[in-house]
Amino acid sequence: MPVIAEFVLSAASASQFPGDHLPEIALVGRSNVGKSSLINSLLGMPKLARTSNTPGRTQTLNFYRIWPNGRPNFGDPKAPAGAGDRFTLRGAALDAARSAGAFYFVDMPGYGFARVSESQRRAWQKLIEQYLLTRESLKAVIQIVDLRHPPSKDDVAMWEWLSYHDRNRLCLATKADKVPRTQRPAHLRQIAQDLRLPEAPLLYSAEESTGHDSLWSWVLATVAGQ
Ligand code: GTP
Ligand code: MG
Repeated sequence: MPVIAEFVLSAASASQFPGDHLPEIALVGRSNVGKSSLINSLLGMPKLARTSNTPGRTQTLNFYRIWPNGRPNFGDPKAPAGAGDRFTLRGAALDAARSAGAFYFVDMPGYGFARVSESQRRAWQKLIEQYLLTRESLKAVIQIVDLRHPPSKDDVAMWEWLSYHDRNRLCLATKADKVPRTQRPAHLRQIAQDLRLPEAPLLYSAEESTGHDSLWSWVLATVAGQ
């Protein structure tokens, strides 16, 4: 059965997060680094998450429900009784989703985008911090950095913050296609050194297949709680 991915909701506040508490994997990283593109490329659905050349595209926490082995037939997902609504699966639908290994990718607004107002920045920061610190269904955070450049100050601060709060985390270096093959190991070493990683970040490209299989295996193992 093919993977099925569906956009579920955009949350601008914690009260809007989905209530079914399927496992969640969040993506964080500098604005324009390629968070939304990673979701699309990994799932082979180019139009699922909106991407853009303009930094600051993603402005809310966007929840995508992923069915790794297709969606079981549990009737109309919008039916009010039992199945719940599109936002919150309930009853038999939730049981079916759990046993099918369904989970959420959570696409986040990026950090480090200068043209965001101070009050907007504070609002996002509060929402993101609250989500990353308190969300019980959050299984892991994927921090994405750009393979072409050493990590920014914000990248380092985010990684240290996740480490301090002991969040299960994976560092991933994307846009690999933009760096010649021979130079990639040195770039990976630089990132590992600056972020004080125990091992090299996972190498990824949204344009090529680099890293897709490794990331998908990691995601499936992580949501299964291994
Ligand atoms: P915000 O939502 O603004 O935080 O950005 P984002 O991190 O979601 O970035 P997005 O996925 O929108 O990608 C930003 C730009 O980088 C787009 O023009 C993408 O096409 C490009 N891009 C993303 N990943 C890759 C990649 O692996 N290789 C190349 N060559 N370009 C990429
Ligand atoms: Mg985005």
